[in-house]
Amino acid sequence: MSEVIPGRVWVTGAGGLIGHACVEVARAAGFSDRVRPMVRAEIDLTDFPALERLFAHERPSGVIHCAARSRSPACQTDPAGARLQNVEVTRRLAELAADLPMVFLSTDLVFDGRRDGSKGGYREGDAVNPLSVYAETKVEAEAWVRRNPRHAIVRTSLNFGRSPSGPGAFNEELAAAWRAGRVVDLFVDEFRCPIAALESARRLWALLDSGQGGVFHLAGSERLSRYDIGQLVAEDLRRSEPDLAMPMRAGSLAGYSGAPRAPDTTLDCSKLTALLGEPMPAFTLWLRGRTTG
Ligand SMILES: NC(=O)c1ccc[n+]([C@@H]2O[C@H](COP(=O)([O-])OP(=O)(O)OC[C@H]3O[C@@H](n4cnc5c(N)ncnc54)[C@H](OP(=O)(O)O)[C@@H]3O)[C@@H](O)[C@H]2O)c1
Repeated sequence: MSEVIPGRVWVTGAGGLIGHACVEVARAAGFSDRVRPMVRAEIDLTDFPALERLFAHERPSGVIHCAARSRSPACQTDPAGARLQNVEVTRRLAELAADLPMVFLSTDLVFDGRRDGSKGGYREGDAVNPLSVYAETKVEAEAWVRRNPRHAIVRTSLNFGRSPSGPGAFNEELAAAWRAGRVVDLFVDEFRCPIAALESARRLWALLDSGQGGVFHLAGSERLSRYDIGQLVAEDLRRSEPDLAMPMRAGSLAGYSGAPRAPDTTLDCSKLTALLGEPMPAFTLWLRGRTTG
């Protein structure tokens, strides 16, 4: 266990994409001392007695709760396990952090993305309608977090970046498929608003520091199809792996008959933009402008 410094912010899921980005952002900004990265190897958050002991011992000053069973197929095949990880852990953490600021990560998939004539652009008050077990657990967890006006719920979209524990981000999954010689199928009529995990992380810290509770949307400013996103990831990957073949096929939801999918869950992020006084980044510009990571 790392040295106990009371008053540090717990970042759960620090071994994952967004939690790791939160730790990186804190380190880069020179406030590593404020951060307590929580990884599964040290504590399984479903071990509630251990969680309570650790919380009492360390007395954190806030919580950024990124830990989750975040893969939809894994939730679909084990709904009870998904509820334990995504709902019960969140509920217990929210109870423990009752007097502290807390930010909980939720998802754009709480929406079904099917509004008639919609071009996405969901706002915080729009009706949710989860289409998967993963999304259902997030809606249930949100209900627990909402009980405390000091706590914030952040719904985000596809996050781009590097996962310390393996290919978890969508860009990493695409790269892994191409390196394995596969052709990827990407919908031209399914829309998301991707954002770099580091950009999300900076805003998660700013939101925590603002002390504001409530629901917030946090995503890139561009509405992009899965196919467009694939093209951008390929363009980016070509810089470091110029010889890698990156075949992709354009598909359509019109001919799709698998598990339910949400066609357009793009988010209106004007509430968080106004609070932080900073626009959401355009994914294309961010990707083309970055030099590392
Ligand atoms: N990445 C996205 O595009 C995206 C989009 C929308 C919403 N979100 C949400 O944002 C949050 C962070 O996502 P992410 O992409 O960073 O997820 P991730 O890469 O899957 O990381 C989640 C981390 O939580 C850990 N964890 C899960 N259950 C745990 C437990 N019981 N005890 C301790 N650690 C546990 C995982 O450890 P193991 O690997 O050992 O399981 C993993 O390191 C999640 O709530 C996710 O649902 C993410």
